[in-house]
Amino acid sequence: MERNLSLCIVLAFLVPFSTLSFVNAEVTDISTDKQALLALKARISHDPSNILANNWSTSSSVCSWTGITCAGRHHRVRALNISNFGFTGTLPPQLGNLSFLATLTFRNNSFYGSP
Ligand SMILES: *[C@@H]1O[C@H](CO)[C@@H](O)[C@H](O)[C@H]1NC(C)=O
Ligand SMILES: *[C@@H]1O[C@H](CO)[C@@H](O)[C@H](O)[C@H]1NC(C)=O
Ligand SMILES: *[C@@H]1O[C@H](CO)[C@@H](O)[C@H](O)[C@H]1NC(C)=O
Ligand SMILES: *[C@@H]1O[C@H](CO)[C@@H](O)[C@H](O)[C@H]1NC(C)=O
Repeated sequence: MERNLSLCIVLAFLVPFSTLSFVNAEVTDISTDKQALLALKARISHDPSNILANNWSTSSSVCSWTGITCAGRHHRVRALNISNFGFTGTLPPQLGNLSFLATLTFRNNSFYGSP
């Protein structure tokens, strides 16, 4: 009986937290993706073709940026392919917020450090 009671207490604490993390996971949207990609942009110190300055414009949709593919019902960032862009920089932790990302291709760039 005592064991059941303590189990109930543990559940009483755990259930609201798991509900909360579920709710948090649901509130990301395309603007979350944009913030993540802008964080990446901010970490690139060398961009030989000026792709970021000319194409990754804050005023346009991330889905129209070169190297970005959006898909799915919610039209979220599905693929990031910056192969051969010649970028030098580091990776921001915000990349983890690209919750619908399925393909990430970083060939032929110079990323260093740990995200
Ligand atoms: C960025 O590049 C893509 C693909 O080349 C193009 O469709 C888009 O219009 C460009 N966006 C801007 C703001 O130049
Ligand atoms: C990434 O883009 C390059 C061209 O820049 C292309 O050759 C390559 O096939 C692409 N990779 C993927 C996985 O889409
Ligand atoms: C790597 O990217 C550069 C442009 O940044 C390009 O000139 C070069 O051909 C690429 N190398 C390979 C192996 O694709
Ligand atoms: C995105 O990621 C950062 C760092 O990992 C985090 O602090 C931030 O709250 C996240 N933003 C959203 C909207 O999920």
